[in-house]
Amino acid sequence: MTVEKETFIVNPIIRTEVPGPASREFLARQERNESSARTYPRNLPIAVRRGVGSFLEDVDGNVFIDFLAGAGVLSLGHGHPELVRVVAEQLGEYVHGLDFPTPTKDTFTRRQLDMLPPPMRDRMKIHFCGPTGANGVEAAIKLATPATGRGHVVAFHGAFHGSTAGAMAVSGNRYPKESVANGMPGVHFFPYPYCGRCPLGLEPASCDTNCATYLERVLTDEKSGMARPAAVLIELVQGEGGGIPATPEFVRRLREVTARLEIPLIVDEVQTGCGRTGTWFAFERFGIEPDIVVASKALSGIGLPVSMIVYDRTMDRWAAGAHIGTFRGNQLAFAAGIAALDLIERDAVLDNVLAREAQLSARLDELSEASAWVREVRGMGLLWAVELADPLTGAPASELARAVQLGALRRGLIVELGGRGDAVVRMLPPLNVTAEVVDSAVDILRDALLAAEVAAEREEAACSSASARSVTATGTS
Ligand SMILES: Cc1ncc(COP(=O)(O)O)c(C=O)c1O
Repeated sequence: MTVEKETFIVNPIIRTEVPGPASREFLARQERNESSARTYPRNLPIAVRRGVGSFLEDVDGNVFIDFLAGAGVLSLGHGHPELVRVVAEQLGEYVHGLDFPTPTKDTFTRRQLDMLPPPMRDRMKIHFCGPTGANGVEAAIKLATPATGRGHVVAFHGAFHGSTAGAMAVSGNRYPKESVANGMPGVHFFPYPYCGRCPLGLEPASCDTNCATYLERVLTDEKSGMARPAAVLIELVQGEGGGIPATPEFVRRLREVTARLEIPLIVDEVQTGCGRTGTWFAFERFGIEPDIVVASKALSGIGLPVSMIVYDRTMDRWAAGAHIGTFRGNQLAFAAGIAALDLIERDAVLDNVLAREAQLSARLDELSEASAWVREVRGMGLLWAVELADPLTGAPASELARAVQLGALRRGLIVELGGRGDAVVRMLPPLNVTAEVVDSAVDILRDALLAAEVAAEREEAACSSASARSVTATGTS
């Protein structure tokens, strides 16, 4: 049964068990026919019929609040009617543009440059990449190496930059690298400045931006063993790494030292860009200007694939064809992206991001008060994270996080997991999400958390009384 659009207002509608009978059939066929590398439906076991705004409907007619939003892609929600109209018009005009100039692409390019802060927009150029974030990251690295004549790259613990060979090489996840031979060499990992779990093993109180000092010393020490790199690549808020914003002081010092040593600074804004943090790019909130920006996910506003790097024109030492790809000229994405910018301005969407940021910060803090398992609530703009840990040992509460995710789904809310041990509940709502939907989502998350916590504690109590019984039975009390 399909729910009428008008009913997609504030609250989810759960009509069946989740997964429902129809979803189960799709999931079973998917398991048989698709690879075991599939991810989202393993933890969020539904088959999707359609999306409307901040909501998703599954094939059983259940309607969920969608705080995954295509992994941060759907900045204006599912199927924004004004974007759908623009895309439909463009579809009949011209779709696949390689890298020919077109009026649509020309406008998109100018509008994107205009979104940069005034001193920066005049010195930057754009290159359109293959249509994924990972391809943009690869392009950024390939731009920096000939521009500097250097070969090495600095990346950070906990980073995620994508799944292709080069992007994986600069990402923190060890597991996918371990089974892939001949990864990209020359990547140096440095600690990411997260004082809640000091990468240098120090107490937070003793931190005097040690991560910045360490990085600066290695880059400047003639005996550090590391050649000057072609670039430093950073996410200003680590997304998949667990929604961790870098400390402003670290970012300021990173910019200062890289500029002083003439090392291009690449910010990966695939997830943080296009308004996600309340400014068009996150680097604006940190008060810096990078040399290369990678953007992708939300550029079209409606989920059409497009990826680009924006970079200082002095770095353009590329020969023709240095970074090519068949799908670099998606006119549908460009047309939607122009309309998305119009809507973001017209509807003051970035103001909404900041207002919802304040709301989420306050409402999610209630979870910390309600549950000892909430280790930390953190975020920026509409990129939020609730990290769960065992209150006694501090260990990542991975199982609890999975139970919260499934419990939330069964109550009508879709959230993502990430971070160490996948113990961080992540939220990436559409940027135009309403205050009412945010309230409804946090209520559901709170219920799911408290229910999962009770179940976990009951299980723990059952385990300890079973082991006490077995100890008594063997007479070793
Ligand atoms: C910060 C960041 N960079 C790069 C990527 C890779 O993007 P894609 O999956 O489109 O290759 C992602 C994906 O989540 C990301 O979050």
